[in-house]
Amino acid sequence: MYRFHVLALVCLTGCGTIDEARSLTVDSLSDTNPALAVVEVELIAGPSTTEYLPGTRAQVWAYRDGAKPGAKGTVPGPLLAVNQGDHVIVHFRNELSEETTIHWHGIRVPPRADGTSAAQMPVAPGASFDYEFDALDAGTFWYHPHMHSDVQIENGLHGMIVVRGGAEPDVAADRAFVLDDVKVEADGQLSQRIDSLDLMLGRQGNVLLVNGQQAPILPVSSGSRERWRFVNSANGRFFNLVLPNHKFLVIGWDGGLLVEPYSADTLLIAPGERYDVLVQLDDAVGASAVLQTVHHDRGHDIPDPGPQTLMTLDVRTAAERAAAPLPTSWGTLPGIAVDAQTPVRSFVLTEQEEGLKEPRFFINGEAYPQSTQTAASAGKVEIWSIRNDAEMDHPFHLHGMFFRVLDIDGKAQSVSGLKDTVVVPMKKTLRFAVQYGEPGTWMYHCHILEHAERGMMGELLISP
Ligand code: C2O
Ligand code: CU
Repeated sequence: MYRFHVLALVCLTGCGTIDEARSLTVDSLSDTNPALAVVEVELIAGPSTTEYLPGTRAQVWAYRDGAKPGAKGTVPGPLLAVNQGDHVIVHFRNELSEETTIHWHGIRVPPRADGTSAAQMPVAPGASFDYEFDALDAGTFWYHPHMHSDVQIENGLHGMIVVRGGAEPDVAADRAFVLDDVKVEADGQLSQRIDSLDLMLGRQGNVLLVNGQQAPILPVSSGSRERWRFVNSANGRFFNLVLPNHKFLVIGWDGGLLVEPYSADTLLIAPGERYDVLVQLDDAVGASAVLQTVHHDRGHDIPDPGPQTLMTLDVRTAAERAAAPLPTSWGTLPGIAVDAQTPVRSFVLTEQEEGLKEPRFFINGEAYPQSTQTAASAGKVEIWSIRNDAEMDHPFHLHGMFFRVLDIDGKAQSVSGLKDTVVVPMKKTLRFAVQYGEPGTWMYHCHILEHAERGMMGELLISP
């Protein structure tokens, strides 16, 4: 069994160094199309720099807005903000020195726009590709490359997508936060050293980031209600959020708004997952509160580093008015009905390191791309039963369609919302119901990127 050997994660800066100058708000891509309900943007991937450690410039790969003259690539990339029902056209250009693609994680796109090796040819250095899709579902999504994702995403290529629509709670601010960690050397550059621990756990960074910044300060108002949308873009880190003396009212998941919001003290967000929460900030003016991530035991005896600071809320002013009452109805009940006759497909997740130079990860004993396609028919409902036989949690992601989690080791789960990425806890079996969507070839994989790139991936072929 693999054991955790070294804890090499040191804090390289004065931990919690604060840079108030940079805004925490990520710019949105400019819409170059005047037509209503059409959003047309230009997105470029290329080399850029950013500051991970104070006073240093890290070389990164980053997305930038091609329609904004002089725009610089940023980590995270610009926000793609659209309304539900909009037609979205993305003119993408690759200015990297290697091939790439873009995957629109969670968005139900036509297969040719899905950005995987099953869906398109890689976009060569200097080449362009147009992605086109309709924003069918309201919710919080993200975009990232689907090639060498453990390297390309870690290098800085990822951005958030917000599709507005449905119930809109009255809030003082609607914020989008990309949670990430990066492994940085003392000179401020991204580490090029990948050890077997990085491969086994997914690369764990020593610098935690909220929208690309270490321990930023967020000015807020006393008595206000805010909406925070989170995505975890880290290669392997699980964020387990707490805001001491506050609760998160969880109103949405991957697939959009829940039917019934629920209140939570901690919020576990695995790589690839999204959560949409409301927070009521009733602290007095002058007070502060610290958003932290606390330990989650995800296997392999990863030690508990204690609570780690993500961001500090500084209560500076009093809210001008109280928020209106919450909406009385939220999302719609996910369908996907199952009964005793619903066919069940079984998947087993395993890992192996004994006798290997680097660990390998398998689904049903096969390592992608040497694996058997899963064949299914459009519109059919089936149950996927995923057994995690490995020594750690694996966040399982299915492209192209949402699913409804049924149970974990037979224990029924909330039916209140749809997911596209879900943690399959170690040594447990999770079952979800899925209705197959558009014909095409769709990927499924662990969203710990080192695992996906080392075998824990498969293809679902949906025929008409
Ligand atoms: Cu977020 Cu197959 O990816
Ligand atoms: Cu995994």
